[in-house]
Amino acid sequence: MSDLFEKARAVRENAYAPYSKFKVGAAVRTVTGKEFVGCNVENSAYPQGTCAEAGAIAAMIAAGEKEIAEICIVADSPSPVSPCGGCRQKLAEFSKPSTSVLLANLNGVLVSHMLGDLLPHSFSSDHLPNG
Ligand code: THU
Repeated sequence: MSDLFEKARAVRENAYAPYSKFKVGAAVRTVTGKEFVGCNVENSAYPQGTCAEAGAIAAMIAAGEKEIAEICIVADSPSPVSPCGGCRQKLAEFSKPSTSVLLANLNGVLVSHMLGDLLPHSFSSDHLPNG
């Protein structure tokens, strides 16, 4: 089982999800080989909750890293948990279309996608006037 999967599964245990009861863990590996984890953090003001992917990205950026090579997302769901649209956009900011997105349940990785397949034709800084 991959190191990323084990890290994502472990951090999932710390998720704060009293409202949805749906714990999610994420682990990213950067192109320099460093790994960062995050879990979902819900809030009584529901829209203020954050996804596991957002936490892992924040930890990566705080450490001075910017390029994701691979991410693993773990939840206890019968079909592989799929990153929400907002998280696909967040991942795209720091990824390539070929970046691997591994979707897993507690038993292991179920499927691997490329980010470009999950978010084709994404908005990017190329669309901005000074991009
Ligand atoms: N969630 C994530 O953290 N990542 C995903 O990829 C899908 C959804 C969280 C958000 C919320 O806390 C809970 O799962 C239920 O939607």
